[in-house]
Amino acid sequence: MQYATITGWGKCLPPAILTNHDLATFIETSDEWIRPRTGISQRHISHVNTSELASVAAKRALAAAGLDASQIDMIILATASPDTLIPNIASTVQANIGAQCAAFDINAACCGFLYGMGLANAQIQSGQCQRVLVIGAERLSFYLDWSRRETAVLFGDGAGAVILEATDTKQGVLAYELNNDPSCREILSAGFGTKMDRFDADSLDFFIQFDGQEIFKRAIRGMGQLSKKVLEKTGTNKDDIDLVIPHQANERIIDTLVSRMKIDKSKAFINIANYGNTSAATIPIAICDALEQGRINAGDTILSCAFGAGLTSAAMLLKWGDRVTPIAESDAELPPCDSTGLELVKRAADYFLSKAQ
Ligand code: ACO
Repeated sequence: MQYATITGWGKCLPPAILTNHDLATFIETSDEWIRPRTGISQRHISHVNTSELASVAAKRALAAAGLDASQIDMIILATASPDTLIPNIASTVQANIGAQCAAFDINAACCGFLYGMGLANAQIQSGQCQRVLVIGAERLSFYLDWSRRETAVLFGDGAGAVILEATDTKQGVLAYELNNDPSCREILSAGFGTKMDRFDADSLDFFIQFDGQEIFKRAIRGMGQLSKKVLEKTGTNKDDIDLVIPHQANERIIDTLVSRMKIDKSKAFINIANYGNTSAATIPIAICDALEQGRINAGDTILSCAFGAGLTSAAMLLKWGDRVTPIAESDAELPPCDSTGLELVKRAADYFLSKAQ
């Protein structure tokens, strides 16, 4: 039996940071409201397109795996904020890293990375691929109406990538569950697409909107149910879990999730304070951070789960392999940014604020 295990990992966070205090300079909010309600202190704002974030993360993942791009059989890029819809931006990454293989984008919102991992695992198990590059990358700052405090405070930009490689050893992806509940499509949306009326300026004002409390409840239920299923599927006891890497939408969602699953909070990896919700990028970024912080050890059992627009939900049980350090490091970097996070969002904020008056 073939298994698919993570052998490389890389992240890319754009350098400009927007703090809660920065946000309070142009919308009616405060660090005192945002931090206790969400766990977020700051988020990164990108000065480049999603594909550039994805390409740097991909180059770092390749170096960590000790691989050349020519050895990759497939690129799966999960994003809801591509720089172009046609062509897909997996092809942009492919050109940037110099790979010759299949390449495509998927959109399963915040679950995109785990959906991509599921697809990659199936390709490896079937023997079709030996090595798949799975990326989660987002530039959600593009989608935000910066005059709406309900949504503006929650999201950030970034990218993370992993290399999944075939192995005969029982490690890597042990089980996963993917689901979608279409009855709640409308409670979380960004109206960007062909349903926009190109002759109506208002219709071109697309932005993320959601029913936060409804999502809060459904996120806990969806992630909890699928996590239980992957544990049952593999006969894993919750006490055998070494680390939980959940989607980072709100620290209170994570607290409630682990408390309901009766898992000690110290086992939950939480980095939302630094990044906000980076949708499909949250889990691969968290994997990188967890490795950097020594939170992942060889042979660890890791539960990862996510929830997002659609409403998608996903859970995956992983057994980490033998290596927790990169084979090599890439010198790939983004082009320099000479603006602050506040400067990067201010033009959009002024536009939306003047429209709102
Ligand atoms: N700053 C200050 N006050 C605010 C802000 C803000 N940024 N946002 C809302 N408020 C106000 C509201 O206007 C309201 O005021 P009122 O009582 O005078 O009417 C009050 O704070 C409480 O608002 P609620 O919406 O009830 O706040 P809640 O505690 O539910 O927190 C939040 C809102 C953080 C959005 C929460 O519901 C949440 O995290 N939901 C799930 C996350 C989510 O929806 N993520 C979207 C992406 S989906 C995904 O990634 C899975």
